Amino acid sequence: MLLVEDLAVEVGDRLILKHIDLEIKPGETHILFGPNGSGKTSLLMAIMGYPNYRITAGRIIFRSVDITHLPIDERAKMGIGMSYQRPPTIHGLKTRQLVQICAKGGDDIEEMAARLNVDKFLDRDVNAGLSGGEIKRSELLQLMAQNPDLLLFDEPESGVDLENIALVGEAIATLLEKEKMPRNTRPMAEAKRDRTKMGLIITHTGFILDYVPADKGYVLYDGVLSCSGNPSEILNWISDCGYEECARCAMKAN
Ligand SMILES: Nc1ncnc2c1ncn2[C@@H]1O[C@H](COP(=O)(O)OP(=O)(O)O)[C@@H](O)[C@H]1O
Ligand SMILES: [Mg+2]
Repeated sequence: MLLVEDLAVEVGDRLILKHIDLEIKPGETHILFGPNGSGKTSLLMAIMGYPNYRITAGRIIFRSVDITHLPIDERAKMGIGMSYQRPPTIHGLKTRQLVQICAKGGDDIEEMAARLNVDKFLDRDVNAGLSGGEIKRSELLQLMAQNPDLLLFDEPESGVDLENIALVGEAIATLLEKEKMPRNTRPMAEAKRDRTKMGLIITHTGFILDYVPADKGYVLYDGVLSCSGNPSEILNWISDCGYEECARCAMKAN
């Protein structure tokens, strides 16, 4: 499981996250909401292990190992993977080469790429000239090849057109399930029971709730988790009231 205890994270000279507590058990998917600039990306980057996101208090435990100060590559090897909000373009490296590096062998890269509708981009430099939605799908292809146990998704739907949104939702559901079976062929309760992977998904729209059975939702506001609960209820509440109420709860949590 993933355990985050009383985490504080600094970026540059600024304290971005304070007193973050999270616990994601095997098979659980949690949803993170929050306004822009509240620290959502910073939280995922800190869990993944980017050195720019300095952990100044608290700790991160993954599968009973304290990974708070482990480098990013060690965390990836332990089974943590991330789909980035704004991944870079990498000139001189083909998407196919990157996916081959991520793959553990035995994967049919062509088939996975066709499923995500990114097969045309396999022989292009990573993310070069791709639209926002295409980049998101290419990110999912890398994750599919890496097949981590803890999956961190930073706004996987942003920039994805309506035509591809179901495909992205189904791909994330597949990534979070043990079996590679399209979710729409089985009841959601059954899918939930079979899952052993852990997911933490940042979303503004909550689109993923139509595809993945989620266990818990949080609102991150001004660097603190201001509330937690049923993700669909939190989403409805944010849609109705905006994030203004969160400011009040965040002050209390502080
Ligand atoms: N590399 C950085 N250098 C300085 N400030 C940063 C950096 N990355 C993020 N921040 C600041 O940290 C805050 C939280 O950012 P971020 O985690 O990206 O929020 P969110 O993903 O919720 O929109 C913002 O105020 C942002 O400007
Ligand atoms: Mg962000």
